[in-house]
Amino acid sequence: MKDFISINSCSSEQLNELLDLSIELKKLYKSGDRDLCLAGKTLIMLFEKPSLRTRMSFQVAMTNLGGSGIYVKPEDIGGIGKREPVKDIARVLSRYAHGIMARTFEHDTVTQLAKYAQVPVINALTDWSHPCQAMADVLTIREHKGKLNGIKIAYIGDGNNMARSLAFVCAKLDMKLALAAPAGYQLDDDSIKIANDVAPGTVTSTNDPACAVTDADIVYTDTWTSMGQEDEKQKRIKDFEGFQVNTELLKSAPKDAKIMHCLPAYRGLEITDEVIESDNSIIFDQSENRLHFQRALLKKLLS
Ligand code: CP
Ligand code: NVA
Repeated sequence: MKDFISINSCSSEQLNELLDLSIELKKLYKSGDRDLCLAGKTLIMLFEKPSLRTRMSFQVAMTNLGGSGIYVKPEDIGGIGKREPVKDIARVLSRYAHGIMARTFEHDTVTQLAKYAQVPVINALTDWSHPCQAMADVLTIREHKGKLNGIKIAYIGDGNNMARSLAFVCAKLDMKLALAAPAGYQLDDDSIKIANDVAPGTVTSTNDPACAVTDADIVYTDTWTSMGQEDEKQKRIKDFEGFQVNTELLKSAPKDAKIMHCLPAYRGLEITDEVIESDNSIIFDQSENRLHFQRALLKKLLS
């Protein structure tokens, strides 16, 4: 495993190994002991979009493992693939750093970086997928539910990068995903097929949120307007009417269903403040686990 670009190109064994390592490193972190396996190593972090969690958790993870992270905003290098081709950026950065992490609009930018870089490349979100978040999410579910096998996630909202990465991770780890989205916003058939070819029956798709949350162990949502879609925001708010995760919808879910959101959340749109702040919400554990999963990933790829 040189790079971490998409969950569907990892084996179940590799994913489980990363989760086991995350748990081991999290224990060490909580005990106050340090693992300096990345002493002297550098991760270059390229961003085309804003970030709180991804940027900070990767930077803290590198520092904590004894290395360092360098944050690069697109203006600093004249844009990724604009001032010079992606393949040249990949090869130049490989001469300076031990790893490259990138958050881009086009997924192809990250795959091109991986193709030409001699060092590991990590996908820190593209328009197509968000694998680091999905792995932190299943780590969080494993901690709260004690297992992953047979767990059902109901994902209410846009069939976006987050929904796709959850579909892939559920297929690899014997989980189920019930997607509920309005017409025109469902996860594409190709992605559902990729997941269901790995494990038949993993992903189901409906436009009835109440039906999706029945028997769900987890109720998950994400923004209706992803980064780059800001011009569509008003239309999307109308189109997603009836798809809010709120107290009314949760009456159709089991009482102990946990609530998840990758954040940032738009309170009053895809989810209410009340639900985010409720006892069943494990949203901030999810955010914390970005750090623990990524420490494991960095140790695995860079040390
Ligand atoms: N969940 C997530 O990736 O958050 P950021 O956009 O703040 O990194
Ligand atoms: N779907 C969202 C996820 C943010 C972490 C976006 O791409 O903006």
